[in-house]
Amino acid sequence: MKFLIINGPNINMLGLREPSVYGAQSYAALQELIRSTCAENGIDCELFQSNHEGAIVDKIQQACGRADGIIINPAAYTHTSIAILDALKAVSIPAVEVHLSDVKSREAFRQISYVGMACVKTYMGLGFDGYRQAILFLKDYLLGG
Ligand code: DQA
Repeated sequence: MKFLIINGPNINMLGLREPSVYGAQSYAALQELIRSTCAENGIDCELFQSNHEGAIVDKIQQACGRADGIIINPAAYTHTSIAILDALKAVSIPAVEVHLSDVKSREAFRQISYVGMACVKTYMGLGFDGYRQAILFLKDYLLGG
């Protein structure tokens, strides 16, 4: 089983970026948690982070026929990107949306998630643990559990 894990703009700034919202741990620490959770569960994983919408669309398209599942934190593109929504729909790879913060309790402009419309489940407000839970959920989902 192979997962593609995509993080959008400014996720590479974790640790420096608004620690009261996103926590004090770095993106390197997040990558380590994702890699170890996948390894413990027998999942091959590819991590990708980009600050560019088109690069994320390209990566999703390239996953066609290569990845069994996608976990995506589209960051600010969550609330704006019909292109990422359409890319996920185009490849038909089961996807799970993750947000570190509880977007539902934040600003009005964060209340819409276009990307979430192509996802089978969303985790939010759980910090790094949301990624761990998303990996476990997607594994069970793909195994038909
Ligand atoms: C985020 C929430 C988004 O609203 C924000 O733009 C981000 C991070 C989160 O993980 O909580 O960049 O996706």
